[in-house]
Amino acid sequence: MLPEPILWTEEGLSLLDQRKLPFAVERILCGDVESIAEAIEKMVVRGAPAIGVAAAYGMALAAREGVSCYAASKRLAATRPTAVNLFWALRQMEKVFTEGEGDPFLRLLAEARRIHDEDIACNRSLGRHGQSLLPGDATVITHCNAGALATGGYGTALGVFRAAREAGKRVTVFADETRPRLQGARLTAWELVEDGFDVTVITDGMSGALMQTRPVHAVIVGADRIAANGDTANKIGTYNLAVVAARHHVPFYVAAPLSTVDMSLPDGKAIPIEERDGDEVRAVAGADVLPPSIAVWNPAFDVTPAELVTAIVTERGVLRPPYGPALASLFGGGGVAGKGASS
Ligand code: MRU
Repeated sequence: MLPEPILWTEEGLSLLDQRKLPFAVERILCGDVESIAEAIEKMVVRGAPAIGVAAAYGMALAAREGVSCYAASKRLAATRPTAVNLFWALRQMEKVFTEGEGDPFLRLLAEARRIHDEDIACNRSLGRHGQSLLPGDATVITHCNAGALATGGYGTALGVFRAAREAGKRVTVFADETRPRLQGARLTAWELVEDGFDVTVITDGMSGALMQTRPVHAVIVGADRIAANGDTANKIGTYNLAVVAARHHVPFYVAAPLSTVDMSLPDGKAIPIEERDGDEVRAVAGADVLPPSIAVWNPAFDVTPAELVTAIVTERGVLRPPYGPALASLFGGGGVAGKGASS
């Protein structure tokens, strides 16, 4: 059984250390807002919804320590720029801090718990919607880790697989290893094996050959930020996978809660893309494959244009193109004041 990735305790927030998986199952206890910020930066906790949930608990811890709400929010907002769930959660927490009455720590803790529970409920709901897209015996490809580990629990893309299985379907998963940090190989494969799924790891360059040689029914990925027109930022390599899927007429689905949608951005060009240290590419699992003198470009995310996305699966249903009007109707008619919020 999967250990809880994010667990509130009396002492603080207990996080499953995702840097150590799958070889060690260890936890880190974060007792203050700074340790939460560092856990997000160092990717102890990662995945867009999970970052938002952890940051929400971080705001509660800040109130317990007597750190100002503004300073805590500013520190947490500076950790990772692409996943909009982080900014969405901070905005929610600031609102509760400003508008409520009574002990700020208790109010913020209650709100963090609510955000956490709501994320799991959204994932279960989007999973139910998404599983209807899969045949009874489905072979799917996923990229990075959009599972329980990346969310409050249950997962988005992996939530669709779980819901399909709950509906009596058989799901065979191919997981891209996801260079450079190997979230697919280390996290998705581990999470799915723990949960009894049939999963096979492929390197990122193998998905084309897989689609050429075997029936693949769908590609399903998560998202870090979806712009108002449906352009989707997700882990680097997602765009390549979408291009190959289009070439092979394999449906390409994005599964994400509405907290991942940023209605303030008209399209994907405005999505801030995190660039990480080149040493992540120069080494594989701690072993150097390049000398430090070799130049490296290491964007952590790419943007898949909406035209390559067959459907966006949300907790409110399956959206089809054109995504502009479909998303606008969910956010109350469109405009820039949607649920998502830019950094
Ligand atoms: O750099 P990471 O591991 O935080 O990137 C995670 C992803 O790209 C996920 O696919 C995305 O956050 C969706 S998680 C439900």
